[in-house]
Amino acid sequence: MTTENRKKKKKKKLRLKQPWKKLFAKLSSSAGGSRSGTRRRKKKKFKLSKIRKEVWFALAGIVALILLFTIPRMIETNKLKKLGYDKEAIAAIRELKLQKKLLDNQWYSDYLASCIKSKTVNPDYLDLYTVISGDKYLDDTDFLMVGRLRDKGYEEDQILNLYKNLRFVELTPLLVYDYQLIEDTYIEDCKEHPENNRSAFTLGRSYFTPYKNTAPADPSTVEMLVNKTYYLDKSYVPPELTDLSNKAGAPGTQLSKEAADAMEAWAVGGMEKGVAFYTTSSYRSYEGQETLYDNYLLNHGQEQADRESARPGHSEHQTGLTVDVCATGDESSEFGDTTAFLWASTNCMDYGWILRYPKNKEAITGYEYESWHFRYVGKDLAKAVYASGMTFDEFWCLYIKPWSNEANKPSEAILASTDWHKIGKEAEEAPAEEAAASPSPAAQ
Ligand code: DAL
Ligand code: ZN
Repeated sequence: MTTENRKKKKKKKLRLKQPWKKLFAKLSSSAGGSRSGTRRRKKKKFKLSKIRKEVWFALAGIVALILLFTIPRMIETNKLKKLGYDKEAIAAIRELKLQKKLLDNQWYSDYLASCIKSKTVNPDYLDLYTVISGDKYLDDTDFLMVGRLRDKGYEEDQILNLYKNLRFVELTPLLVYDYQLIEDTYIEDCKEHPENNRSAFTLGRSYFTPYKNTAPADPSTVEMLVNKTYYLDKSYVPPELTDLSNKAGAPGTQLSKEAADAMEAWAVGGMEKGVAFYTTSSYRSYEGQETLYDNYLLNHGQEQADRESARPGHSEHQTGLTVDVCATGDESSEFGDTTAFLWASTNCMDYGWILRYPKNKEAITGYEYESWHFRYVGKDLAKAVYASGMTFDEFWCLYIKPWSNEANKPSEAILASTDWHKIGKEAEEAPAEEAAASPSPAAQ
């Protein structure tokens, strides 16, 4: 090969090795080879790459944001699932904004889940829902009861324990009894008496110390409670004491005007139905009750006297709103065995009266059955008490009692829906027999 040929070959090789040079040369020539054109292209290129970068950043940001929201939500969903909630319940939990409360406290029960799903759950009592099972359920009366138990001194864990183990019919007497530091003793006693219901309530031991934590009754209202806890002052004499007519009472019997009229109406109502009964004992003064009680003491001893007679100041007879009745022309020694009793006891509420010491309720009222002793409370209240199946002591402690601590009161909405006036009106709309056969939810 000649030197000339060798040089040509080398040049060609070089051209092949450095194609950019060729490209550069081409570009330079097509752009006229000017310096400003090159700068414009460079700038454009730089701008494009900058926009591309920004898009990438924005996309990355969006993805990060999505992850930021979805990951915690996924974690939360998993935790709720682990607790036992299904998809439908989790959606409702989010709607009701309950996720934090439920997860923080690890609250779950089938009943709670079903109430969340139906959106009937009351978020203020979530823990209570976790201890409810079987055919029990919660309503505003239960939330009122929780407030009452708190007001009585029960701690939250005690209330849960009581609710977990007891029926409503077993809870209401607790409002009348002393505060039970060891509530399990009461629970066990109740479990040993599964037959207890609104018609009969007996326990193995007493949970009430009579005349121990006494308090003054409020005689300004016809709804006043007078029992072994609440008393009337020695000097208390009811207003407008009125003699009963011979249709309604034995000579010398007196009641407060409103009660006297109600007694007259009741007795006349009975006569129209062919039954006759009248008042044998009505208002009794403090001193009169003292004499009576002392007689019981003398003849029966303290224990039996306290089952039959109230100590002075603690007798309903001092209210001027109470009667002992007997049937006219009936040989039966007990009013409870007469046909008059049958009519009187099932119609008394229509005239504002209640049977105050029912059969098989001594464990709550503190008195043996007194078929003859009726108390005037007004029509609405009488109907509400009758429909509830509770003793007046339980009913008053649940629905009427002033609160010791206002902080224990449930919400206004709960108080409104459990107002006893409303219960009385509802009972009025339902015939008496029907009300007795199917008591209100409070009487579960
Ligand atoms: N027998 C009732 C309890 C009274 O003495 O008032
Ligand atoms: Zn009496």
